[in-house]
Amino acid sequence: MISEQEYKVIEYLADGQFHSGAEIGKKLQITRSAIWKIIQLLHCKGIFIERVHGKGYRIPNGVHLYSSERIFYYLPLEQRLLIDNLVIHTSIDSTNNYVLKKVKEGAKRGLVCLAEEQTAGRGRCQRHWVSPFAKNIYLSLLWSFHQGPSALTGLTLVIGIAIVKALLERGLTGLTIKWPNDIYSQDKKLAGVLTEMFIDDLGVCHAVIGVGINVDMPADGTHFIDKPFVDCTSILGSRPNKNQITATVLKELLLILPLFEQQGWNFFREIWHTYDCLYGCEVTLITGQRVVIGIAKGVDKNGGLMLEQSGIVEVFNAGEVSVRKITR
Ligand code: BTN
Repeated sequence: MISEQEYKVIEYLADGQFHSGAEIGKKLQITRSAIWKIIQLLHCKGIFIERVHGKGYRIPNGVHLYSSERIFYYLPLEQRLLIDNLVIHTSIDSTNNYVLKKVKEGAKRGLVCLAEEQTAGRGRCQRHWVSPFAKNIYLSLLWSFHQGPSALTGLTLVIGIAIVKALLERGLTGLTIKWPNDIYSQDKKLAGVLTEMFIDDLGVCHAVIGVGINVDMPADGTHFIDKPFVDCTSILGSRPNKNQITATVLKELLLILPLFEQQGWNFFREIWHTYDCLYGCEVTLITGQRVVIGIAKGVDKNGGLMLEQSGIVEVFNAGEVSVRKITR
């Protein structure tokens, strides 16, 4: 976990230039030896800071940190107005946990939480979401629905479309969706979505939409990830602007959510099929104790995955379902 003081040192060195210990110490109002200790601690936490005698310290290639000003700068006014509050955390257990806690305290739709690091990032099916400091996007958005739970049918799939659109806009290529909403490129996972619900005493359904995007995943520390993954930097050939990607993702989410409220899932079903990477493929689906092998046939009117086995099509709904494409 990165402390506030450690964050300040990183912020000062974010430009990738050399800064002397005296200069950083003066700015942060701490001694040079305190700076040295912080730099050693950061090293232990996987943040490499180079020290060159006579020049000072630097983070090679710098680091991209969130800036609410930059995000709002890139966000069109119409979507900016839909954000009730944008909170940026240096380190948090999980941005979804934060928004879930806030919604129970009465937070309004349009609350956005971003974090530079998650210490207990959560993925679908109780998996851990690896969330190293300042490398990727960890974002949660609160959106509340007043029409009852049935209005949320297909929501999680629609979110996948919004993320694909945003990433295409930022120049990423070869994007597909693996049901229900894993974003793939080059057959490797680029982004994931965890949507969680909370229904309040008045029957209002609050959706906490959690999005994790691999922007610049470091090669080390990722041995916990059990599936092939890819990041934006390797697809684009250079590290992209994290604030701009974040703004584009927010823009697309805030465009699609009001449209989804008006039109419902069926309006998006055909669009979703254009990104479906499983269609016609043989897949293994694990749901509880059951393991099913079948041919993926797209999604139904409720967003369930249709699987054909011996000419019979069965529909499986999102939730605790895990699907893998069989490659022979
Ligand atoms: C998955 O593909 O398994 C879903 C991953 C979702 C990760 C994001 S990161 C931001 C938000 N906070 C979390 O703890 N999880 C989601």
